[in-house]
Amino acid sequence: MDDLRRKYLDAIAGAGDETAIEEVRVQALGKKGEISLKMRELGQMSAEERQSMGPKLNALKDEITSALAGRKASLADAALEERLAAEWLDVTLPGRPRPRGTIHPVSQVTEEITAIFADMGFAVAEGPQIESDWFNFDALNIPPEHPARQEHDTFFMARAAGDNRAPHVLRTHTSPVQIRAMQAQGAPIRVIAPGRVYRCDYDQTHTPMFHQVEGLAIDRDISMANLKWVLEEFCRAFFEVEGVELRFRASHFPFTEPSAEVDIRCSWEGGTLKIGEGNDWMEILGSGMVHPKVLAAGGIDPDQWQGFAFGMGIDRLAMLKYGIPDLRAFFDSDLRWLRHYGFSALDMPTLHGGLSG
Ligand code: DAH
Repeated sequence: MDDLRRKYLDAIAGAGDETAIEEVRVQALGKKGEISLKMRELGQMSAEERQSMGPKLNALKDEITSALAGRKASLADAALEERLAAEWLDVTLPGRPRPRGTIHPVSQVTEEITAIFADMGFAVAEGPQIESDWFNFDALNIPPEHPARQEHDTFFMARAAGDNRAPHVLRTHTSPVQIRAMQAQGAPIRVIAPGRVYRCDYDQTHTPMFHQVEGLAIDRDISMANLKWVLEEFCRAFFEVEGVELRFRASHFPFTEPSAEVDIRCSWEGGTLKIGEGNDWMEILGSGMVHPKVLAAGGIDPDQWQGFAFGMGIDRLAMLKYGIPDLRAFFDSDLRWLRHYGFSALDMPTLHGGLSG
């Protein structure tokens, strides 16, 4: 009896996991277990033997049963301890991890511009970046021999050998979207068209790809006065400065008549740019009353309808508003730059919530 006791208590103490414990249990107390067989032998014993062996065997069985349970519990405890140690969690860490990506200033400013113009009733229109030369030039009253066609330093797409049609271009401005929007929607119309444009140019303030936003408003009696109000309203909202002052300078664009370039009052004192004060003027956009030929190209009767258009550089607006000195860095994908100038994805620009967060 003592040998059995030793044997099984040692085996239990040495069992390293639940399977090993189960094996010991079956060996000792299973149907054909050593102790179970011994208990079965009680039947063949004399009454006297049975009286002395019975209680001892029962006691041994109880002792082994509780040793098994005890070992099982302590193994479970150890397993839990191990898991707690492995799955340790620092509850003092911040609950909201900082989002890893940031919104690019161009995307942010595009959203800001869209929010401001949406508030004035402008919808967003789109057009292709690979454009036919008719939409990019001819329809905008820029005939083949017009100097603007060289000025633009256009990227022309290659044509298949033997195809003599005029090549497509990477659009040099967002103005072709005016024509597409007029053709698609007719008049009256009020749209802006933000997007990528391309010109062969590269220095601190020029990149071969950049962004513009076009504006177009056509109705029966829209005038320069409406243009002026809309642009002033836009600048006040965009630069978040009450006292913005704009200067309209007579200019020339083939697609508008009359045409005006618009400057904003600013100061460069101490090397930092301030909008709405000072004695400097900075050009921010081109605009004018849509030329009758452009309306006609868009399928709109110039005797019935008139309106204004404008175009401005989004990247430039981003540089001015957020004090970003070099345009080329916009498109370098340098993570340090993106983290510095990028915006939180959770800050959606809205007029009521604040544009720049
Ligand atoms: N398309 C012109 C450019 O790329 C900008 C522009 C000027 C657009 C006057 C207009 C406008 O709609 O009326 O430089």
